[in-house]
Amino acid sequence: MTASPALPAESPAIIARGVSRLYGTGAGAVTALDAVDVDIRRGEFTAIMGPSGSGKSTLLHVLAGLDEVDRGTIQLDGTEITALGDDALTRLRRERIGFVFQSFNLLPMLTAEQNILLPLELAGKRPDRAWLETLTSAFGISDRLTHLPSQLSGGQVQRVAIARALVTSPAVVFADEPTGNLDSRTTEEVLDFLRLSVDELGQSVVMVTHERDAAERADRVLTLADGRISSDEDLRGQR
Ligand SMILES: Nc1ncnc2c1ncn2[C@@H]1O[C@H](COP(=O)(O)OP(=O)(O)OP(=O)(O)O)[C@@H](O)[C@H]1O
Ligand SMILES: [Mg+2]
Repeated sequence: MTASPALPAESPAIIARGVSRLYGTGAGAVTALDAVDVDIRRGEFTAIMGPSGSGKSTLLHVLAGLDEVDRGTIQLDGTEITALGDDALTRLRRERIGFVFQSFNLLPMLTAEQNILLPLELAGKRPDRAWLETLTSAFGISDRLTHLPSQLSGGQVQRVAIARALVTSPAVVFADEPTGNLDSRTTEEVLDFLRLSVDELGQSVVMVTHERDAAERADRVLTLADGRISSDEDLRGQR
């Protein structure tokens, strides 16, 4: 939808090469990521699975420019984020990355619409009313935009949070266990809306989950073990 003109549309949204992340030093040192090579393709729903401590959140955070790497390079939408200074990285995160948090993190004193538009406000960008309308009608919240989060159902809160992650048309939307705190019906709804983001709106989505059922809603499942990718499954033919 918003690929840089210099890049062919089919170029990966993210290209990560030899990415390592180490925490601590000496005997207590942990290799959270161990020379990971991965491409995240555009318009795909990628799930990241693996046991606790295998590096899932670390991978998500470094791909999103929220954490630094110790070795390796990451290109996001043609920009080498591993070479950016703090200010450029902050700007890139605001403009090119969407994040869905496990707790959804809506601001309670802002209406649904104000919450959705917040990333644009922070970036000093004017809202595109047509895109807002597309998003809110796709997510079935057009008639809830003047409500505060406390006046929304749990499912509506999540849809507002996903719409907020998409409002800047980011290169990639990241979600770390977005269904981790939810009952099974609401989990299905969140997965439906992440799928819709990919299928109807062309968004690239990367989701960490430890639930196989949730991962199977994705197009591709990357499994981590001890900071390395141990399998890379293409599920597109199975859906
Ligand atoms: N800030 C940190 N300081 C020190 N060690 C860390 C830090 N963050 C993560 N680690 C370690 O790096 C490894 C990978 O952690 P990570 O959070 O990526 O795992 P995960 O796969 O997301 O696990 P979970 O399923 O429990 O969320 C773990 O051994 C963890 O203890
Ligand atoms: Mg984690």
